[in-house]
This record gives sequence, structure tokens and C-alpha cells, in this order.
Amino acid sequence: MSTTVTRREILIERAKTSFRNAFGGEPDLLVAAPGRVNLIGEHTDYNDGFVLPCAIDYETIVAVGTGEGTGVRVVAGDYDDASDSFDPSAGFVHQKAEWTNHVRGVVASMMSRGWHVGGVHLAIVGDVPRGAGLSSSASMDVALTKALAEHHACHQIDATDYALIARQSENDFVGCACGIMDQLVSARGQSGTAMLLDCRSLETRFVAIPDDLAVMVIHSGIERGLVDSAYNERRNQCKLAATHYGVPALRDIDSNQLVRDRGDLDDMTYRRARHVVTENARTLAAAGALATNDMATLSVLMKQSHRSMRDDFEITLPPIDGLVEMIGNYLGLEGGVRMTGGGFGGCVVALVPAEILEQVTALVESSYQTPDGGKVRIIICNPSSGASVL
Ligand code: GLA
Repeated sequence: MSTTVTRREILIERAKTSFRNAFGGEPDLLVAAPGRVNLIGEHTDYNDGFVLPCAIDYETIVAVGTGEGTGVRVVAGDYDDASDSFDPSAGFVHQKAEWTNHVRGVVASMMSRGWHVGGVHLAIVGDVPRGAGLSSSASMDVALTKALAEHHACHQIDATDYALIARQSENDFVGCACGIMDQLVSARGQSGTAMLLDCRSLETRFVAIPDDLAVMVIHSGIERGLVDSAYNERRNQCKLAATHYGVPALRDIDSNQLVRDRGDLDDMTYRRARHVVTENARTLAAAGALATNDMATLSVLMKQSHRSMRDDFEITLPPIDGLVEMIGNYLGLEGGVRMTGGGFGGCVVALVPAEILEQVTALVESSYQTPDGGKVRIIICNPSSGASVL
């Protein structure tokens, strides 16, 4: 019998220990919600378009138990058991420590929808790398939402609601104007699959990721910087472009209309729109290619996606372009590679046939230098299921 302790088991122990130390006693319930890696479909979610992420086996775990009175008391295992407490009936004030705003934001969002939250103890731990573009925040927000909903027996809240509440918290309280992709796949992902999501209707189609294909994530070592301002700027540019084309969102035009109705649209705004329009088409095509195990097509689509992010959307950085090119040259049409996530640093995702995983790992380790000269971090992800009670 194997005695290997899993990463999840380690997290569970940490969550319970933090809970015991802070509140004395055992939690009633443990909830987990995963981070995600996006295979293709970048900056399309807030344009009502398509994305193809998968949930990963790096996650946030929340331990929850009954507390006294109407307050919320919370401890963060990843921040040396830093603690916070507030009374939701007294309103919500923005805090300096970012993690506490996620808790307040989720509670505020639930209450704005008519749910009662209070008299609760929470302990939070996680192993989703932060600042990597793997959605550590979304996994925390979704885990918190589900933990609170389960604890307060809000049975009418379904997985899509968890995602919407978590996104509302990010948008309205934390102050990040993100789309719905990260939260929705964290809430609804299915093991062994990527999730094609229509970000307008929130309909999903799950596409199996073949067992012999590894989902490899390489952290560039560049922490995502200036993310919020650049992200919001791109969002506004897309909005401007949609207004120019007279449509509610860029989802509503295709490549023909893009060219035909360009009129006097300036070059930069046009390129932003071109990224979104072509990326939507690539994402739909990629879901089809993955479903039929057509790696050559997937490979080309991922390459085009990266170039579009580099040249039209301008969210990549030269070291990341170099890393993508190096891996792409090695993989040829046998696998695919592109930057993943919001951009300006973070991770690269590669779909790599299992039989050459070792060689690709060796290539990256020997040839890529992180900016601080440290060892490059490579994460092999298992496509996992969404938020669950443990
Ligand atoms: C961030 C946001 C998502 C999405 C991606 C870009 O991860 O949280 O909503 O917009 O960037 O695809």
C-alpha cells in the first residue's frame, strides 16, 4: 500500500490546524475549489465570447464552523495565520490586507442577493501559485462562497451562482474588472476535461483531454505586474471597438464584418478588436480539434493565439515570447504552446504528448532563465473537477 501523502491531504491538515489554533475545536465542513489554466480564448470572456479553460489540481481549501454572534472570524493559513473579523450587519469597509477584502467581498455579494451570513468561523489555505495567472483569487472566492452557502444551508445556490457571486465580489469589492471565466471553471469544471464556455449564455461543453496529453504549465518567473491598469485599459478599448461596430460586444462580429465595417477605426483599437474576433473563432475551432484529438490543428491555433496576444493585443513580454517559441520549435505539430492568463507575466501552457514530456522538461530547465536567475517552475496539471465539499 502506498503511503504517499497527497497535496490535498497536506492542505486539509493545514486548514484544520489553522482552524483549531484560531478557534479551538474542529470545523464542521471543508470545501475545496480549484485554480485553472486557460488552454485558449484569452480576453474573450468580457467580450461575451468563448474560452476553453480546465480546472487544475491546485486549489484553495476553506474550513468552516459555527461562531458566536453575528460576526465573521477568519484566519489565513498562508499568511502565518493572520486573522480578521468583522460584523456583516455593520457594513463593509475596504481593508489594506488584500486577502481580507476577498472574504468581505464574498460576504457582501451574498448578502446583496438576500442571503444571510454571520456567526461563522473560517480558515483558508491554498496551493495555487499566486501572481502566475492560474486564478488563485477566483479559487479562493469560489471556495469561500461555497463554504458559506453550505454552512448556511443556502441550498438554492447552484454552481453557476457561486461563480457569479465570486465574480461580483471581484468586480464590486476587490476592484478587479475581470470576466467570468476563472470563477465559472473553478465552480463547474469536470475532471479530465477542458470546458468550452460561452461567456454570454454561460452554456458549457466539456471536451475530454486525452490521457496521453500532459497539461504543462511553465511559470516564467515574471510576476504579473501593472495588471489591473493594463487589463482595464484593454477592456475599455474592446468596448470602444464594439461601439464603433454598433454591437453590444465584440462577440457579435466576425472577421468579415471586422474588415468591412472598419471605417475610420484607429489602428490600435482595430488590432484589439481583431484579437478578440479571431480568438473567438480559434477557441471554437480548438474545442473541435481537441475533441477529435487533432493535435496538428490545435498546435497551429495555439501558435496563432500567442501571436495575436503578442502583436494585436500586446499583452506578452519578450522573455515569454522567447519561451513559447523555444517550446513551439521543439514540439512542432505534435503539441501546442502559448502564454496563458491575463498577460504581462505569469505562465505559459503547453499541451505535450506524454512520451516527450521528459525531453520538453529538460529543454525548458536547461534553456530558460527566469529574470532572477532562479530555477524555472514547471507544473504538470491534472484537469480536475470544480468546487466540492470534501
Ligand atoms: C484574467 C481574468 C479573466 C480573463 C483573463 C484573460 O484571468 O480574471 O476573466 O479575462 O484574465 O483571458
